[in-house]
Amino acid sequence: MGKGQELWQRAKRRIAGGNMLLSKRPEMFLPERWPAYFSRAKGCRVWDLDGRELIDMAIMGVGTNLLGYGHEAVDAAVRRVVDAGNMSTLNAPEEVELAERLIDLHPWAEMARFARTGGEANAVAIRIARAASGRDGVAICGYHGWHDWYLATNLANAEALDGHLLPGLDPAGVPINLGGTVFPFAYNDLDHLTRLVGEHDIGVIKMEVARSVAPAPGFLEGVRRLADRNGIVLIFDECTSGFRQSFGGLHKLYGVAPDMAVFGKALGNGYAVTAVIGRAAVMQAAQSTFISSTFWTERIGSAAALATLDAMEALASWDKVTATGRAITSRWEALAAKHGLAITTSGLPALTGFAFDGADAPGYRTLITQEMLKSGYLAATSVYVSTAHTDDVVDGYFEALDPVFGLIAECENGRDLSSVLEGPVCHSGFSRLN
Ligand SMILES: Cc1ncc(COP(=O)(O)O)c(C=O)c1O
Repeated sequence: MGKGQELWQRAKRRIAGGNMLLSKRPEMFLPERWPAYFSRAKGCRVWDLDGRELIDMAIMGVGTNLLGYGHEAVDAAVRRVVDAGNMSTLNAPEEVELAERLIDLHPWAEMARFARTGGEANAVAIRIARAASGRDGVAICGYHGWHDWYLATNLANAEALDGHLLPGLDPAGVPINLGGTVFPFAYNDLDHLTRLVGEHDIGVIKMEVARSVAPAPGFLEGVRRLADRNGIVLIFDECTSGFRQSFGGLHKLYGVAPDMAVFGKALGNGYAVTAVIGRAAVMQAAQSTFISSTFWTERIGSAAALATLDAMEALASWDKVTATGRAITSRWEALAAKHGLAITTSGLPALTGFAFDGADAPGYRTLITQEMLKSGYLAATSVYVSTAHTDDVVDGYFEALDPVFGLIAECENGRDLSSVLEGPVCHSGFSRLN
């Protein structure tokens, strides 16, 4: 057992659930064998606690580091802030500049608020939108964080959120009285949303612009029209989609503007900063309710975001990661065809993934992680592409993946999967660890 797994065993005794983010639990990748902790990260490379260098072809900080780990210019901007002082009784001037910058990128918006995590930015957006619309009812499509307002969706039906990224989300501890306030709708199903709006007093629609599949022609336009006709505040949650396929929200690509948008993840290239932007008439409702928090004023986040936006613009990073992601997707398809394997690919080009069908799918995923780790890769079945994923890196990854697909083909042809798995199969959703 490596040092990382030893530390993870200690962590599970002292931190409830082991860590603070489900997606970084070793059990989500390779139970008992995943390196679990890092000592250093640079570009698309990560060093574990045993000093082993690994190439990250997995979740890249769960989508935070679109420009790679330890980006020189972003880190330099942060160092300047650390040297000058990152906190004081007075406010950070960078936050005003960041508000103006995000509004320049999204001319439909007029005002901003900042937070430090995607979930809390979503909670801020929901509070403002409910205050603006004067109605409690929210229709949602997608994943929007851990807060009470969102998990309340599962109070009426424990599986209501299963089709929205994370299955098995348990609303224990969420007040039962919040039941019947949030209604999930299926992506690309405008009729479903229209029915919900007809049946409930919906004041807010919150959705991811796209995640697994692209919007059907007219879908986003239909949502916009429905919101307009019913005086509903439309929020696009761009925490994950933002900056991956356009310079700003993915909605820019589709020409449909919301009333509010939420950004997170890539905005600070690894530093904690998230944003809510919106039309002034909606955003001003923030002044009719209490939304306030100490660390939302911290200076590193806004300074990092400004430097990240500059670097993204200089590189046209959204085009770069989209092209790399498309190449990875088509090479997965070609490799699967070479080995006679059936896979389906999905996701934004720069957040691409593939899946096997059938009961062995989790075992195959685990096998990929196990074998790729031996070759020096952090890998599963999806990749958050960064600008550090150069052609050479991608070539090396496919060289290593080729024999693993070969092994899976052998299993498809009768070899016992359990005989090649060296530990337990990975988890695929939320579950208790110990
Ligand atoms: C679309 C979307 N919204 C909200 C969140 C929550 O963000 P955070 O984990 O920073 O709280 C995520 C995180 O995966 C997300 O993908």
